[in-house]
Amino acid sequence: MGDPYIELDADDLPLDRPVRRPGGDAGIVIIRTDRGVFAYEDRCPHAGWRLSSGDVRDGRLECPGHGWEFAVDTGACTDVPGYALCPLRVLSAGARVRVECPATDMKTGIETGKAREEEIAEEDAAKIKR
Ligand code: FES
Repeated sequence: MGDPYIELDADDLPLDRPVRRPGGDAGIVIIRTDRGVFAYEDRCPHAGWRLSSGDVRDGRLECPGHGWEFAVDTGACTDVPGYALCPLRVLSAGARVRVECPATDMKTGIETGKAREEEIAEEDAAKIKR
């Protein structure tokens, strides 16, 4: 099993800029805004693009895939009702930020994060070529 949480310095979280960290099957996107620190699995619920490559504007995170937007503070999709990001608990948001890691593959109990990271990178490369 991997660590139950990850930690990083708040200074490593620029305001309104998504930051990616490894964790779980898809990675983690962490966003610091003037309203707090928020974390989600780094996978869009539409087609799986990495949200950490998106932009934050006016409290919304725009997916780089097809432009859907999500409220940074709740994860709710503001374009298509019923879709939402998978939230992760922010356990500490002081000088050190601590975020809960998502669960790994529950069927096997095997941590699949690295293999999935490579798979997603290949999928991203294929999408860019299209
Ligand atoms: S993959 Fe995010 S909007 Fe399509």
